[in-house]
Formats: sequence, structure tokens, C-alpha cells
Amino acid sequence: MTEIKRVGVLGCGLMGSGIAQVAATAGYDTVVRDVSKEIWDRARAGIEKSLAKLVEKGKLPAANREAALKRLSFTTATTDLKACDIVIEAVTEDLALKNALFQELDGLSGPATIFASNTSSLTIAAMAAATKRGDRFVGLHFFNPVPLMPLVEVVRTVTTSAETFRRAFAFARSLGKEPVAAKDNSGFIVNLLLVPYLLDAIRAVEHGVASVPDIDKAMQLGCGYPMGPLTLLDFVGLDTTYKIAEIMFAEYREQRYAPPPLLKRMVIAGLNGRKSGKGFYDYSADPPTLVDLGI
Ligand code: CAA
Ligand code: NAD
Repeated sequence: MTEIKRVGVLGCGLMGSGIAQVAATAGYDTVVRDVSKEIWDRARAGIEKSLAKLVEKGKLPAANREAALKRLSFTTATTDLKACDIVIEAVTEDLALKNALFQELDGLSGPATIFASNTSSLTIAAMAAATKRGDRFVGLHFFNPVPLMPLVEVVRTVTTSAETFRRAFAFARSLGKEPVAAKDNSGFIVNLLLVPYLLDAIRAVEHGVASVPDIDKAMQLGCGYPMGPLTLLDFVGLDTTYKIAEIMFAEYREQRYAPPPLLKRMVIAGLNGRKSGKGFYDYSADPPTLVDLGI
């Protein structure tokens, strides 16, 4: 089986840029596709900042940062990913969008190329079925922020071959990550448990249980979590969380996955969290201030 040398990444938002960063740092030539140069410029700036932090903290030699940046290239053309040995998709959480990209790439990629999705909530089978490489299709679910979070859930579908799963698992390890094997159920392991908790925190705001900062403080200081749930929602992105909740609710028909109305209102208003500048908190100030949601 071909050795993995060249990595393709579809999407360079929060997750795609982090995945591209760790792949390039681990020594892979990495090609990243997104829809515009403005988006890559933002992703490249974020990657440069993150690598600089890692160098500053003594976690990465300065020479490795330069080498990683040289291995990274950006494109708007899916064809530029055709020579990749593995392609990791990290575009918006939308099945039709993901499948259109996978179908386009399926006709271009070599027979040994592995396709992987970083989806939070879709089943991998729903994407694998749109291609002719169901045996070479896995889930590789990274965590935000990718350069710092050690876990990758490696997901085997009913059609993934044992060889593909083994290669994907070894690839995750080669990125310096700690892989775990997960079944192809919506939300895998972490989001099955994390998403109801995050949605419950929004329901707690809706019900006036406590203020936003006090809910965050309570979970940080009472449970030792690194971030409170509303800060974490801003960090993940409220738009992404809303899509995840819709998908998981459609899959399980369980109330705990239902998107709370406040989440929907905030997304409609463009309060998508840290990436849009405002969510539960306003990030234009340091430290961030509370957004008045009128509740
Ligand atoms: N790149 C490099 N370094 C970074 C960085 C980045 N992107 N972000 C932060 N850092 C560094 C900081 O410089 C800092 O370094 P020192 O400790 O040496 O000073 C260190 O990392 C810690 O950062 P901070 O002090 O700013 O903040 P922190 O102590 O709160 O740590 C955190 C940040 C690691 C993000 C931590 O808050 C955390 O673990 N939060 C929870 C994240 C989480 O739960 N992620 C999962 C989300 S769910 C998901 O991803 C799945 C899904 O499908 C939705
Ligand atoms: P994001 O909104 O930050 O980025 C999505 C990117 O996809 C954007 O840059 C957008 O321009 C790009 N995109 C849209 N259409 C495209 C196309 N046709 N071709 C190429 N790129 C296109 O979202 P994100 O948070 O990075 O999430 C991406 C994926 O990762 C989703 O499936 C999400 O569920 C999953 N995920 C998110 C998190 C998180 O904490 N945010 C964690 C793990 C997994």
C-alpha cells in the first residue's frame, strides 16, 4: 500500500486550518482547498500565529516552523488535491456540500487515496455511499483547537476495510495525536456526550438558572473544566453547534439533541461566537465582555 506523503485538506476554517497545521508540522506536504484567497490568508495568518506560540513556548523548534510553512499550499481548485494520499474534509457541517466535494474528488484521486471526514455529527456512511471508495473511507474527528487537543476519533463504517482503518489510525498517530476507535454513530463518542451538555447550558440560560458568566464559572470551578460551556460554545461556533444539533436530533429524535430556540435566534443574528467576534461574549475587548441578549 502507498505510503502517505501528501495530505489534502478540504476547508480551512477553524478545523481545516488546524488539521493542515498539524499535518505540515508532522512532515507531510499539505494542500488546502477553500473557496477564496481571503479565507486562506486568514487561515495562514492563524497558522503562523499558532506555530509562533508553540515556538515561543519551546514546544516546537523554530526550524520546524519554517519547514512546516514551506510544506503548506493553498488552492481554490479541487483538482490540486488529486495527487494526495489522504484527503481530510473539514468544510461546513452540511451533507450535500461534503458529498458534492467527495464526488468531484472521487473521479480525480488515485485508487489508493483514503478519504476522511472530520464531521462532528454526520455518519461517515452517508458520505462514503456517495463515492465509489466505501472501503477507503473513514472518519478522522479532530478536536478544537487542533494543535493542542491530543484526541482523534478514528471511525470505521460498515464498508471501511481493515487495512484502511489501520492506515488511518497510524496516520493519526503520526500527527502526534492519540487515536481512539469509534463506531459510526452520529456524534461518535465525544459529541454524543458533549452536545447534550452544551445544549443544556443554553437551556439553563433560557430558563434564567443563572447568568452566563456564573454558569461558566460554576462548571469551571465546580467540575474543573478548562472552559465553561458558554465560552466553549463560542469557541466551537454557534452556527456549527446549531447544525450539529439539527443533525443529531434528526438522527436520534431525542429532546436532549434538540437545538434550543435561543441558539437559533443567535445564529440568525450572526452571533456565531469567537469567529464572528460575538456570541455569548464580545471578543472585541480583552478580556471579552458579556453580550446583552435581552434575557
Ligand atoms: N496554537 C498554539 N498554542 C495555543 C493555541 C493554538 N491554537 N491556543 C492556545 N495556545 C497556547 C497558549 O499560548 C497557552 O500557552 P501556555 O500555557 O504555555 O501559556 C496554552 O496554549 C493555553 O492557552 P490559554 O492560556 O490561552 O488558555 P487555556 O489554558 O484555557 O487553554 C485550551 C486553552 C487548550 C483551548 C483550553 O481552554 C481547553 O482545553 N478548552 C476546552 C477545549 C475543548 O473542549 N475542545 C473540544 C471542543 S468540541 C470539539 O472539538 C468537537 C466537535 O466536533 C465540536
Ligand atoms: P468553519 O465555519 O470554521 O469552516 C468551514 C470552512 O469550510 C470555511 O472556511 C468555508 O469557507 C469552507 N467551505 C465551505 N464550502 C466549501 C467548499 N465548497 N470547498 C472548500 N471549503 C469550503 O467550520 P469548522 O468549525 O472548521 O468546521 C468544519 C467541520 O469540522 C464541520 O464538519 C464541523 O462539524 C467539524 N468540527 C468542528 C469542530 C469545532 O469545534 N468547530 C470540532 C470538530 C469538528
